Amino acid sequence: MSRPSPSLETPLLQHITLRDKEAPQKIRKLQRCFVLTGKRSMHYNRHSLVSLELIGESGVGEILITGGAGYIGSHIVKRLLEKGMQIIVLDNLQTGHREAIIGGTFIQGDIGNERILSEIFGVHEIDSVIHMAADCLVGDSTKDPLKYFNNNVSKGIKLLGVMLKHKVKKIVFSSSAAVYGNPPRVPIEEDFPPFPINPYGETKLIFEKLLEGCKVAHGLQYISLRYFNAAGADPDGRIGEDHHPETHLIPTVLRALLRKGRKVPIYGTDYDTPDGTCIRDYIHILDIAEAHISALEALHAGVESEIFNLGNGQGFSVKQIIQAASKVTGRTIPVIETQRRPGDPPILVASSEKIEKKLGWSPRHEKLDEIIDTAWRWHRTHPHGFRSSSLKKGVARWT
Ligand SMILES: NC(=O)c1ccc[n+]([C@@H]2O[C@H](COP(=O)([O-])OP(=O)(O)OC[C@H]3O[C@@H](n4cnc5c(N)ncnc54)[C@H](O)[C@@H]3O)[C@@H](O)[C@H]2O)c1
Repeated sequence: MSRPSPSLETPLLQHITLRDKEAPQKIRKLQRCFVLTGKRSMHYNRHSLVSLELIGESGVGEILITGGAGYIGSHIVKRLLEKGMQIIVLDNLQTGHREAIIGGTFIQGDIGNERILSEIFGVHEIDSVIHMAADCLVGDSTKDPLKYFNNNVSKGIKLLGVMLKHKVKKIVFSSSAAVYGNPPRVPIEEDFPPFPINPYGETKLIFEKLLEGCKVAHGLQYISLRYFNAAGADPDGRIGEDHHPETHLIPTVLRALLRKGRKVPIYGTDYDTPDGTCIRDYIHILDIAEAHISALEALHAGVESEIFNLGNGQGFSVKQIIQAASKVTGRTIPVIETQRRPGDPPILVASSEKIEKKLGWSPRHEKLDEIIDTAWRWHRTHPHGFRSSSLKKGVARWT
């Protein structure tokens, strides 16, 4: 049978949108006469051209996730897939892991490469972006600020440029509570004046300003999420935190149990806190993933651009983390008490009141034991991170 080309001479163009609940059945039926071309399927006969589009329950179309092979990105990817959403991950794997992406379309490439970006936005019908890709080590940023401004700002500008060129105007940005520097009091609210004290925090703040500029000039809709320490892992134990070097406290504590001879340093025991050690805000990775998805859905529902903090509602001291880890694992954590680190404020905790009021998000996995238990499940079964279960899968590789 010869097929007419999908052009203006086609007498009827019908567009069917299927919600994912009803999709499997209908698709099977339609597949018999449809030529499947990825997301969009075309059925041609003499009288009609039918285009079939699959969209998630929330009305969100195809989503590009930059940095989706990273710790937080991979958990967002998993949750989006569970919700039946269509995703494309762009990641150069500089710190991410191919094995961490459990589904969707993966493209290995750099967010600073406009050719790749144009191809992706040209081929896929992306209507929103979750931007996670970044360099994100505070200490490293003080040693090599240019790397941070290049990746987190200059390359981010390229991403925004190509998005706007393709009329993609919704973005959720993974910012950081590092934009606040040393806040005047806690819990930190969004209207506290940002005053970053390291290049990493500076780059996050600059990117937020770029988003605001693009909102005013080009109608970009954005939600920027500021938070401190992501922690824990997906409870099914397939993905988790695998950073090299590891600078976060909870994985450092758990890894010390798995690698003989390691001790956990406690930097300062004379702070003005109940047990003398620093108090920090830890949010479960599932809550962070949920917040990004809620933000995306809010943008699609027409919520105005906003900046929101994500906080656990309470902070935990270094000693509380160590005690909880000891309880969860049933082992004694080897520690070494040492001097304060310069510039470490005693308490950093973010208020989540604004996002709770406006988007209805609040942490659901806020208990320290749960956070540590899920992290332990991952570390215990993956003592060498993703290398423990390394699979080399074929990927579309771009340079
Ligand atoms: N981990 C935290 O506690 C935390 C707290 C606040 C904010 N954040 C932010 O969340 C985001 C993710 O953090 P994470 O802990 O998952 O870090 P991560 O290093 O595990 O993930 C970052 C991912 O981005 C990729 N990437 C980096 N530069 C890229 C580029 N130019 N092109 C393509 N891919 C690139 C990396 O390969 C990696 O997969 C970052 O933007 C970070 O600033 C993290």
